[in-house]
Formats: sequence, C-alpha cells, structure tokens
Amino acid sequence: MRAATIRDKEIVIEEHADPAPQAGEALVRVHAAGLNGADMMQRRGLYPAPPGSPQDIPGMELAGEVAALGPGAERFAVGARVMAIVGGGAQAELATVHERLLMPVPDALDWPAAGALPEVFVTAHDALFSQAELRSGERLLIQGGAGGVGTAAIQLGRAVGARVTATVHRDELSERVSALGCEAISPEGFAERGPFDVILELVGAPNMAENLNALDTGGRIVVIGVSAGVKSELNLLALMGKRARIHGSTLRARSLEEKALTARRLEHEVLPLFGASPPALRVPIAETFPLERAAAAYERFAAGGKLGKIVLTI
Ligand SMILES: NC(=O)c1ccc[n+]([C@@H]2O[C@H](COP(=O)([O-])OP(=O)(O)OC[C@H]3O[C@@H](n4cnc5c(N)ncnc54)[C@H](OP(=O)(O)O)[C@@H]3O)[C@@H](O)[C@H]2O)c1
Repeated sequence: MRAATIRDKEIVIEEHADPAPQAGEALVRVHAAGLNGADMMQRRGLYPAPPGSPQDIPGMELAGEVAALGPGAERFAVGARVMAIVGGGAQAELATVHERLLMPVPDALDWPAAGALPEVFVTAHDALFSQAELRSGERLLIQGGAGGVGTAAIQLGRAVGARVTATVHRDELSERVSALGCEAISPEGFAERGPFDVILELVGAPNMAENLNALDTGGRIVVIGVSAGVKSELNLLALMGKRARIHGSTLRARSLEEKALTARRLEHEVLPLFGASPPALRVPIAETFPLERAAAAYERFAAGGKLGKIVLTI
C-alpha cells in the first residue's frame, strides 16, 4: 500500500507492506484522513506515535470501508462505512483499527467530512460535556474558534442550547465563524465580554490569567491546546473565590476502553445530528488534497488561517 511517510522531518509517499488485522481489528480501506496539529508535531519528531501504532506513517483519524476482519471482529461487516480515531497510521491506503474504536459513518456525510470528523468532534464533545459538564443556557467561550476543534465546539455548544462566544484572531474569518452559531470576537479584551460559565482553551497559557478573570462563579476552564505556551501564573485566590475548576485532557494517551467510551458517546449523542433535516451539525473543510500531495497538505495546515479542517483523500 502507499502511505504518507515521515522521512527526515518531511512528508513523502512510500510503499509499505499491507497491514493485517489482528484479533478484534478491522482492516479499513481508507478514503479520507484529516490532518491535525499533532501530525505537524510528529513530522518534526516532537510527538512520537504511541506503542503499537506505525511510527513513520502519520494520521490520527480516518474514514473508509471495512476490507477484512481479524479473528473475533464482528461489529461491522465487510463493506461497511466506518470512521475512527487511531493512534497513528491513518494517512495510508489501508489501516487496521480495533472494532471498538470504529463508528458508523452517517449516510449524510461524504468521505472528506467523515475523515475530518472523529478527532475534533470527539475532542470537543469530551471536553465540553464529559469534563466541563456544559449545560443548556450556560455561556461558553471558545479560545481559538476558527480551527477544527473550535468549529466543532461552537456547533456542539449551540446544539445543546449554550450561548457561544468564540475568539478569532483573523478578521477575514469572523463572519464565517459566527455563521456556525456563535458571536465571533477579537481575542483582545475578551474578558470584558464575560462572565462565562465554561471556557474551552485551544490556544494555551497566555490566555489563562484572563480566562480566570472572565469566569463566573462555579465556572470551568478546559485546557485542550497549548500551541501558544504551556506555563502561566494564576491567582489562586481568584480560583478559590469563584469556586472554579480547571481541567486538562489529551485523547491519545487513553486506554482502549476509555477511547471506546468516547466513540460510543459520540455515536449516541452527536452522530444523529448530522442526519437531521436541516443538519444540526456539519464538518467545515477548508481544503482537500489527494494523498500524492500530502506534503502540500501539511504546508497548508502549518500556514494557518484556515476555517475548519484540511483533509487527505485517498
Ligand atoms: N488535548 C487533546 O486531546 C487535543 C485533541 C485535538 C487537538 N488538540 C490541540 O488543540 C488545539 C486546537 O486543535 P485544532 O485541531 O482546532 O487546531 P487548528 O485547526 O490548527 O486550530 C487552531 C485555531 O486557533 C487559532 N488561533 C491561534 N492563536 C490564536 C489566538 N491567539 N486567538 C484566537 N485564535 C487563535 C488558529 O488560527 P490560525 O490558523 O490563524 O493560526 C486556528 O484557527 C491544537 O493545539 C491541537 O494540537 C488537543
């Protein structure tokens, strides 16, 4: 099979041996695979894939058809349309995935949308609802609203009846972000637009002191992305006074059981909304690239300024 491959911190296309499904696994013929910030770090050698995943083939999410089943795998039949988060190896013609991580692709979604959905919708759903316990009527601030997780979180917040505000630091994207169902604001002076019950932090440490100022009593901050920095100074008296909570989370390090649970919750609570009429959720895609142009897709992602996702089609 052909696969995007990391060689000397660059992305090239190489031939690899076809993977074979082990017990409980499905072999998936991949049709689309979304890019993520972690792929950019893995390419630079800063974020190795977890043990058991291919180390040189990147890709944390995929959508495709089941091509074969390993011993004991029975959740999906050969030919079923499936999608999943994986530890690595998604940006290839074939990938093996444990069947408990697979989700059915809603009929309403084409391959690029399905390949760009799992990582950002699972991350946003887990952060907002499993961790921050966001409820209807609460005020939600999303720091970094124009990217993959941000555009998913805006729509999920709106779907549950929260009042959503999102920071967007490129003026030219503000209108399209607000069209997803939020008030799009400049990052400068965001705390004055509060107070907020929940803040989803996708940018990092430089926002944290002001996040605390912008939080209402009983508020929650969930830290998911730290590309702008990892250390900040916090006023713990303010944290106590507001009876506030700060959560942090990563998905990649979780056990199979924990990852399977996030997939089941998405299946039951979120996927039906893509098939509603009109759809209550969609997957914003900035650009698709064929596998042969994977290096260009990485450059496009790293350049920033996109709305939503960059996807490889295979
Ligand atoms: N913890 C986890 O399990 C987990 C899972 C998925 C993702 N992540 C992390 O979460 C972060 C977001 O992921 P993603 O997929 O949404 O990445 P993304 O698509 O690159 O989105 C990040 C967004 O933040 C914007 N941004 C950067 N600095 C900003 C600022 N100061 N104010 C407002 N917006 C700003 C970016 O704009 P520009 O493009 O204009 O720079 C971009 O729109 C990444 O760091 C990613 O690695 C963590």
